[in-house]
Amino acid sequence: MGEIQDQLFILVGALACLNYLLKCVKFCKYFLLRLWNPLPKSFFRSMGEWAVITGAGDGIGKAYSYELAKRGLNIVMISRTLEKLQAVAKGIEETTGSHVKIIQADFTKDDIYENIKENLQGLEIGILVNNVGMLHNYIPFHFLSAPEEVQNLIHCNISSVVKMTRLILRDMEIRRKGLVLNISSGAGRFPWPLYSIYSSTKAFVCTFSKALQVEYKEKGIVIQVVTPYFISTQMTKHINPNIVMKTADEFVKESLDSVAVGAETCGCLAHEILAHLIDLVPSWILYSDAFQNFILTHYAYDQNKIPESKK
Ligand SMILES: NC(=O)c1ccc[n+]([C@@H]2O[C@H](COP(=O)([O-])OP(=O)(O)OC[C@H]3O[C@@H](n4cnc5c(N)ncnc54)[C@H](OP(=O)(O)O)[C@@H]3O)[C@@H](O)[C@H]2O)c1
Repeated sequence: MGEIQDQLFILVGALACLNYLLKCVKFCKYFLLRLWNPLPKSFFRSMGEWAVITGAGDGIGKAYSYELAKRGLNIVMISRTLEKLQAVAKGIEETTGSHVKIIQADFTKDDIYENIKENLQGLEIGILVNNVGMLHNYIPFHFLSAPEEVQNLIHCNISSVVKMTRLILRDMEIRRKGLVLNISSGAGRFPWPLYSIYSSTKAFVCTFSKALQVEYKEKGIVIQVVTPYFISTQMTKHINPNIVMKTADEFVKESLDSVAVGAETCGCLAHEILAHLIDLVPSWILYSDAFQNFILTHYAYDQNKIPESKK
């Protein structure tokens, strides 16, 4: 009996070690693939002539537009505010020499896709960045206390990803190449109470992307979900960048260099490490009343520290 018990303990111990080892290997994959299998400079341009970026007028989408233009693609920027689009397009054309086409669209609406389709007609689209997204409660809130505009959030964070992918994937399938980057969030990797709707919409993006990658991998199409944590943009009230809070430019450069790491990436090393550290915290701590109350009080307090100009 004692011997069986010993063997059982050894087996459980061995499985726990194996599980930990697998996690380490998965983590190391991020560095190793980038060291051993860096993407050739021509990779992005080889996907096709044009890249389409949603939510391209500001923040991360604007950074993707600049960086992909620098990597040799012409850019279609789709976003809400025409003046911002025009200014960014001018900047890109002047600094990179790439062509830029702009489409004004509000992704909270459902009737914009015919117009987008017409504007994309005839373009050889190699890259789609489904970046547009909204966070309707920057301050943590319980579900019933959060703003009610849930439908807008669902249209913008979920429908846009599905509908834009539907518009563009078919041509990629015919050409048997293409890259689709779906910008989710660290908040989509596991449930984030106090941001329940945003977190759920981003979880949809993760699941949709990973399922789609399995379906279209054999057809030469790379579909990757990107799950960053903190990037200094309008969405995060332009909080000062630091080792974890990346600027949009540095994040996007690193994220494009991470395209080879697989179907899911945090997009940059700092966030990859953060994700692994968070994974080590037991859920009974993350979801405890004490921790939730800490988030509610701490972040409500932090709001007072944001200068009026950044709100
Ligand atoms: N910032 C972060 O820390 C962070 C972390 C994880 C994930 N993300 C995700 O990254 C993506 C980009 O975020 P960001 O921080 O760059 O946001 P942002 O600074 O708020 O910029 C969003 C861009 O999307 C446009 N946009 C917003 N709502 C739109 C709508 N309904 N229709 C059309 N365009 C719209 C904005 O248009 P205007 O130019 O008119 O404002 C802006 O150009 C989002 O999906 C977000 O969830 C961000």
